Amino acid sequence: MQTLLVEIILDDLTATKKFATVFAPLLRKGDVVALDGALGAGKTELCRSVIHALDLSDDVPSPTFNLVQIYEPKADDNITPVIWHMDLYRLESPEEAFELGIEDAFDQAVSLIEWPSRLGPYLPQGFLTLRLEIGHNGEARILKILGDDLWKNRLKKIVEDK
Ligand SMILES: Nc1ncnc2c1ncn2[C@@H]1O[C@H](COP(=O)(O)OP(=O)(O)O)[C@@H](O)[C@H]1O
Ligand SMILES: [Mg+2]
Repeated sequence: MQTLLVEIILDDLTATKKFATVFAPLLRKGDVVALDGALGAGKTELCRSVIHALDLSDDVPSPTFNLVQIYEPKADDNITPVIWHMDLYRLESPEEAFELGIEDAFDQAVSLIEWPSRLGPYLPQGFLTLRLEIGHNGEARILKILGDDLWKNRLKKIVEDK
């Protein structure tokens, strides 16, 4: 069961990047991260920051049209995972996700999924939610992290350092 683990104010993109440098190294093969939030909430920027933090690619376009962008580690160090960055907004049906090979991602990579609700029942158990909201002044973003007890343990450093 998911509970709210921590709430972090991301004042600007620098804060998003800083969060990603702490969060990204904790990710392991098989992790599924659901990015919730309205259009413009900062989901893509957060994914981009994670991919930059792992030094997977300089160029991180939004996967709005191709739905998936895959990032392989530059060197196979057995630690840095492959990242599948997905934006499922344009998915016509949950079943269409299988045509993208999403099961391989769940199994072999880290899945960063924008618009995860498009997957309906196929979002795997044990996923982590990063929920982004736009602050009242329209500038800052509020990041809420929700997960189960396993995630609570893994994100201890982030929860306690907050
Ligand atoms: N932490 C943040 N603070 C301020 N602005 C942000 C932050 N994160 C993202 N933005 C801005 O919000 C806009 C939308 O971001 P984006 O990541 O494309 O949103 P989404 O993918 O949720 O639609 C961009 O102009 C981006 O610069
Ligand atoms: Mg986006």
